[in-house]
Parts: sequence; structure tokens; C-alpha cells
Amino acid sequence: MSLIAEVKQKTDIVEFISQYVALQKAGRNFKGLCPFHSEKTPSFFVFPDQQTWHCFGACGTGGDVISFLMRKEQVDFREALSILAERAGISLSSAEKEGTKKDEEKEALFQLNRSATEYYQRMLLDSREGEEARRYLDKRGVAREIVLEFCLGFSPGGHEGLKKYLVDRGYEEKDLIKAGLVMERKDGGINDRFFERLMFPIFDGLGRVTGFGARSLGDALPKYINSPKTLIFDKSSELYGIDRAIPAIRENKSIVIVEGYLDALSLHQHGWRNVVAAMGTSLTEKQVAIIKKLTKSVFLALDADAAGEEAILRGMEVINRAGDRKVVPVPISSGLVRCESVLDAEIKVVALSQGKDPDEIIRKDPSLWQNMVEHALPLLDFAIGSVLGKLDIEKAADKSRAIEKLLPLLREIKDPIRRAQYVQKLARQLKVSEAILLSYIKQSEIGGVKRREDNAIVGKQFSRHLASNALEEYCLALLLQYPELHHLSAELVPEYFQHMENRELFVRWQQLSDISNLKSQLDDILAEHLYYLQHKNFPPAIYQSSQERQLVLRDCILRLKEWLFRSLQKEGVRADQQLQEIFIQRARGIAK
Ligand code: UTP
Ligand code: MN
Repeated sequence: MSLIAEVKQKTDIVEFISQYVALQKAGRNFKGLCPFHSEKTPSFFVFPDQQTWHCFGACGTGGDVISFLMRKEQVDFREALSILAERAGISLSSAEKEGTKKDEEKEALFQLNRSATEYYQRMLLDSREGEEARRYLDKRGVAREIVLEFCLGFSPGGHEGLKKYLVDRGYEEKDLIKAGLVMERKDGGINDRFFERLMFPIFDGLGRVTGFGARSLGDALPKYINSPKTLIFDKSSELYGIDRAIPAIRENKSIVIVEGYLDALSLHQHGWRNVVAAMGTSLTEKQVAIIKKLTKSVFLALDADAAGEEAILRGMEVINRAGDRKVVPVPISSGLVRCESVLDAEIKVVALSQGKDPDEIIRKDPSLWQNMVEHALPLLDFAIGSVLGKLDIEKAADKSRAIEKLLPLLREIKDPIRRAQYVQKLARQLKVSEAILLSYIKQSEIGGVKRREDNAIVGKQFSRHLASNALEEYCLALLLQYPELHHLSAELVPEYFQHMENRELFVRWQQLSDISNLKSQLDDILAEHLYYLQHKNFPPAIYQSSQERQLVLRDCILRLKEWLFRSLQKEGVRADQQLQEIFIQRARGIAK
């Protein structure tokens, strides 16, 4: 146990605070007159269960026994800790002192953030400078209870308000820097990091303030700035609102994840208490770790256009949003599906259309939001729907694009039954056979985890398969059924076969032209394909004349070659010369 935890455990907060405040019982808790501001009716509460205190009156402060002592006796964190340790009879060896240094350092930052929160809160609620921010919150329809519950605040202009406030309370400048609350100036002095912004303290699951988000009141860019990475803060591992949401997440057995601070607040205000904000990032591993302990049912509200639908499918890419320095990692499809399997949970997507935030939606029509959550689609269905929605799957090329995008997702499904379900579903929607889809998944799995580029190739090959299959099959069937044509295959290279199964068969056949031997080496799908080609029917002329067979095969090969160069050309490869040659050769062949 850390020293801090031990001190807190061995100190009875009620007993300790009673030394300063006359406490009376109020249900499970205790109340009294706040020692930090003057009042006539008690609004100062001590919560023995949580070992915390809070003033619901004008000063709105709160914390644990350490912060109480710091305030009451005007001592710094370290001092308060050692007073309490001594009082509790905890003796500190030098090793313990060393071992707990890091914890203390962190704890000191938490206390600092707590005090900063109080400052910002006071500025928002009482100061003249806070007027604009108060009006802004009114305009956005944020209720006062929410402002208080989430300890929203305001950082005034002037660049030094917070610094002064904290230094006056005994905090050291170097700790202010460590907490990311101030920035060093060129001349060596320090300025407040946040000014003229609405402040969102970010609480962790234990109710400690780890950092801040800060929104400009107007259109000033960047819209938000956040605390920098500190010993206790890393934006990508926080979930905004988690401390307020935990009871509801447990109760509802589900969590709703939105993007923005204001979305989270607005949903809480409308009774959706199981909501947290991922603060503009996709789910990170650390966030997943937090969620994993709480629930197996995750609703992810994502912007359905650019940021959402595309994002879910595009890949874990870091996007720098224009105009501000915000870096947004966007999830890859397989990334989210992987998230799902790591979570061992089901992720459902609440698709937000036309850039409408949950905040806008719920304020306009709470039942619409309710409806959207109820109809949220399982992640994979959403992904499939959104890919297919943009394509015309009657077109071969589009079919292949769909597979290219969705294959990595299917591959991520580890549960064989679920995977089979989705393969079936997708095959039906794409109007291709399940066997083909499965063969692609298998193919892409050989050689371990493949990169996206590889999948793209598989996809492309699929499309060409659909268009060139007949020709490829014709060619292969001729070679397989008429060994006399073998010598002509010297003209043929595997690349001419765009369809994987054809290419594979061709390569094997080349290596080992004894067909009975070949058969024994093939997997079911290829063996079936071989059988099919060996029994493929030809027009009568083929059966009648060896010369005709040779002519047809030569032309087939040229046409396959032409096909390859044409598709290369579509991709921007210059192939005029080659195509011209093929044209001439074919013309000669036909003339023969
Ligand atoms: P949004 O731009 O959707 O903001 O960014 P919002 O929360 O809906 O705010 P309003 O409604 O415009 O006032 C979503 C989230 O992305 C992060 C914030 O966490 C924000 O809540 N973000 C956004 C940043 O960190 N920096 C930015 O510059 C913008
Ligand atoms: Mn918004």
C-alpha cells in the first residue's frame, strides 16, 4: 500500500475534521458549517464512506483529509502528509520515503489540479470576468446542476490569475509546471496555460482531477486545448465523465461513448448517466482497459460521415485536423473489431448523420436519441452496411473493393461461429459464394498477419477474377485437358491469372504436370476447381482440330496478357507499347 493510501486508511476523516468543525450526523454522512467560508446554515459535508468532504455552499470546495489539512493549516502536500502519518503512528523508513516519492509526486499533482479546479469554478460562478462564460453555458443549455456536478470552470484572461492563486496557497511554481497548468515564458517567468476558456476538469474513475480540457468561447482556434501529458495525465487514456458514469454503467450494464465534452454533459443532463467522452480520439488500449472492468456492452456514437463511417474502416491513422494542432488517431476497422475481441464485449455503433452531435440531437428530440441507441448496429453490421452503401455491388470492381475493405474485419473475428455467420451474411449481400469468401480469408491468413496492402491486392484480384474468369478458365482447361499444348504455356506467366484459384492451379501445374499427382496436393477448394476445369466443355471445333486448339490457346494467352496491361494502365502504369504489340500479334494470329 502506498504511504498516501495508508495515511488515509488510518485516519478517520470524521474524527479528524471534528477537531476543526462541529459536525452533526446527516444520514450516513456528517454536516457542519464550512470552515472555508462564512455561512449560517451548514453546507459542509463529510462523507465517511468515501473518506471525502465537500462544501455545497459558496466555496464549492472539497477533497480528502490531506487537502483538508493543507487548506486548514496552509501547509503543502508533503507537510500535510507527514503530519498525518505521524498522527497515525506510521514511521517512515528512508526506503519507504523513496518508494513513495513517485506516488507523492502524483498525489501532489492531483491536489494541485483540485485547487486549480476550485479556482476556475469560482471564476465561472462568481467573477465578473466569468460573465461571458456563464452566458455561453446558458446559450448551450447546460443546466446549473451539471455545471456544479462536473465542476466546470472558467479561466480568465490576464495570464497569471491561476498562478497567483496557487502560489498564494503555498504551491510551488515548479509543481505548477509539472501539472501542465502554466507555461514557461522566454524570460523565465511563467504564464497560465489556459485563459479565456471554459474549463472542463477531467476526473479519473477515483474522482481525481488528472487534467483539463479548455474550450474557447468563440470561434477562436484551436477550439479546445487540453492539458499536456503529465505524470498523471494522458488524454488518450482518459474517459471524460467516467467518475460520474460508473454507477450507471454498472446498473445499466452498458456504456455509451461519445466524442465531445459537451455531448457527454448534455446526455448526462438528459438522464443518460452511463455516458463518457473519448475526447475526440478513438478507443485506445488504455481506455479499453478501463471499460473492460465495467461492462461488456459498448455503444459507440460516431459521426457517420468522414470522421465516423470512414474512420471505422480506414485504419489507425493519425489525422491532423486542419486549423488546429489536434491530432486524432482514427480507428481501423480491424482495430475496432480487435478492440471488441480484446474487450470480449459487443460494440454497437450509434451512427450520427450529417455531422449532428449527440448534444444537438438530444436537445432537439430526446426520443430520437433513445431510438438511435436502441437501433444501434453491431460494429460489423455497421461496417458492412457502410461499405456496401457506397458501392454498387452489381459491379465486379465494387465487389472487390468491398472485399478489400471488409476482409481484414472478417479475419479479426476469432469466434468461428460468429465468423461463419458474417461470412454467410456478406456472401449473400455480395452475391458471391461463401467458399470464395472463405478462400480469400484463408489466403490472406497464410503468412500470418498481413498488411492492408496485401489485402488490397487480394481484393483487386477478386474483381479481375469476376471479369476475366471465363477467359482464364478457358485457357487453363485447354492446358489441363490437352497435354499436347504444354509447350505453348511457355508464353504464359502466373500474373496473367488474376483469379487466385486459377493462378495457384497454373503454378502447381507448371511445377508438376502430372495431374494425378497434382490432385493429391490440393486443398478441397482447389481440387474442386481442378475437377471443374478438367470437365469443362468446349465448342465443337476444339475437339475436332489440334490446329484450332493451338490457335485458340495462343489467342487466349494474348488476351490474358492484354487484360493484365489494360488493368495496369487503369492504375496509371503506361502500357501503350505493350498493348500495341499484343494487338499486332493477335491480328497476325487471326490472319493465320
Ligand atoms: P468537437 O469538435 O465535436 O467538439 O470535438 P464538441 O465537444 O462537440 O464541442 P462543441 O459542441 O463544438 O462545443 C470533439 C472532442 O474532440 C476533442 C474534445 O475532447 C472535443 O470534445 N477536441 C476537439 C480537442 O481535443 N481539440 C480540438 O481542437 C477539437
Ligand atoms: Mn458539439
